[in-house]
Amino acid sequence: MSHRIAVNGELHLVDAAPETPLLYVLRNDLGLNGPKFGCGLGQCGACAAIVGGRLTRTCSIALGDVGRDKVTTLEGLGSVEKPHPLQKAFMDEQAAQCGYCSNGMIMAAKALLDRNPQPSEDEIKSALADQLCRCGVHNRVVRAVRRVAGERTR
Ligand code: FES
Repeated sequence: MSHRIAVNGELHLVDAAPETPLLYVLRNDLGLNGPKFGCGLGQCGACAAIVGGRLTRTCSIALGDVGRDKVTTLEGLGSVEKPHPLQKAFMDEQAAQCGYCSNGMIMAAKALLDRNPQPSEDEIKSALADQLCRCGVHNRVVRAVRRVAGERTR
């Protein structure tokens, strides 16, 4: 069955069952490997994207439930040549070790800054609390997000 889906500003026609997790469609059909498969159970946040303006665990939403909501993945923020300020701050602060959680961390930070451009440190920690990282780069991640929030006040 074909579904029309808007991802990173482009419309795609995807031939998949409506119950297919959005994560599989993004990675397997559209070749967007920013979102990662971590737990597949909605528990780790590695697969996060912004769907209809909300931070969403794409392993836990079915393609058929996306409807007309616009999907933004990590690839929709910036590129290697032209990174989004958050992507640049993560690089500058070396806010990754293995990097598996980085997609979710950056997308959660993006969702936070979209609704609160100047969050406090506590607000940053709270917004990222459910994004799991096994390497322990949390402090660097918080510094990266603070860096972007700080730049916005200048
Ligand atoms: Fe989706 Fe873990 S892979 S929350």
